[in-house]
Amino acid sequence: MSTETIKFAYWVPNVSGGLVVSNIEQRTSWDIDYNRKLAQIAEKAGFEYALSQIRFTAGYGAEFQHESVSFSHALLAATTKLKVIAAILPGPWNPVLAAKQLATIDLLTEGRIAVNIVSGWFRGEFTAIGEHWLDHDERYRRSKEFIEALKGIWTQHNFTYRGDFYRFSNYTLKPKPLQQPHPEIFQGGSSRAARDNAASVSDWYFTNGNTVEGIKAQVDDIRAKAEANNHSVKIGVNAFVIARDTEEEAKAVLKEIIDKANPDAVNAFGHEVKNAGAASPEREGNWAKSTFEDLVQYNDGFKTNLIGTPQQIAERIVELKAVGVDLILSGFLHFQEEVAYFGEKVLPLVRELEAKKLAKAA
Ligand SMILES: Cc1cc2nc3c(=O)[nH]c(=O)nc-3n(C[C@H](O)[C@H](O)[C@H](O)COP(=O)(O)O)c2cc1C
Repeated sequence: MSTETIKFAYWVPNVSGGLVVSNIEQRTSWDIDYNRKLAQIAEKAGFEYALSQIRFTAGYGAEFQHESVSFSHALLAATTKLKVIAAILPGPWNPVLAAKQLATIDLLTEGRIAVNIVSGWFRGEFTAIGEHWLDHDERYRRSKEFIEALKGIWTQHNFTYRGDFYRFSNYTLKPKPLQQPHPEIFQGGSSRAARDNAASVSDWYFTNGNTVEGIKAQVDDIRAKAEANNHSVKIGVNAFVIARDTEEEAKAVLKEIIDKANPDAVNAFGHEVKNAGAASPEREGNWAKSTFEDLVQYNDGFKTNLIGTPQQIAERIVELKAVGVDLILSGFLHFQEEVAYFGEKVLPLVRELEAKKLAKAA
């Protein structure tokens, strides 16, 4: 097991409607004041990262969306330690704009920006904003070139690149970002193409929620491939956390979320994401095996089962760490209050269990 402590990130609610497609009450807001305070609570609670989302149009909730890079910068300005991962969609962004924009933010924030390259699953969004909807694996091939270009611009002088999507000739970015060798690059998905990118170019791989066994299979596959490529990649897993003083309370909240789910929106979302994955050569994708209940949380976060008492959740987190997970990306129903509760009740137990395991191994 890694000797490093497992890290925690939370989803920035910069789009409206929270992280579940349900009519249950959510004491969470997408506005900036709520989010600034949340970021401050989170860094105090022991979260090292926050992940902002990129969406250009509504769909299945998310009626209003703040843009990720500018929103991330606002959160960085309101905090001192937190790293904010800004989501970027190749297409609307090209690598030179992203590299320049993020390098500037990096310099303005003492090296606290990171980036999540998303490859896209929402055809309706691409069509609405006039973006060409590439085939599944072409979207990932473009993302790979995007990441190679970002790294090249951030680390090299006279950067020259000849890809199918991007070309550069003797380009020198000045000033370079503060973080060395460059700001961290996250990238997510579950399809073969997403994993191949993780195993060759990304610093971090994000995946949807899953059982410990399911995550282990993905981690083993990616780590073996990365090793063959002489590359190393860290792994972040999505989880919707419902931590309550008793297991009954936590399970009752999950039941209420699902009972109050909006079936039309959940089914439409399921249709869209399953279609996007089915177009991959292996005819799978992030959500291939997701049930109705799973889809109520956008990224299969219930499957990770961080639902119960602080002790149960801490034990499960340490099990995930034991199969190679480096970071838990967490979502909550009532963000501010639950992030604070997590920091107070769950995180110290995780640190205790990690220390015990390490002592035992030694
Ligand atoms: C943790 C995580 C965060 C993501 N954030 C976004 C986002 O902000 N915007 C977006 O359009 N897609 C986002 N995605 C979608 C992925 O980039 C990818 O398009 C999707 O998971 C489909 O994967 P697949 O092609 O492997 O099935 C995210 C995925 C994960 C796992």
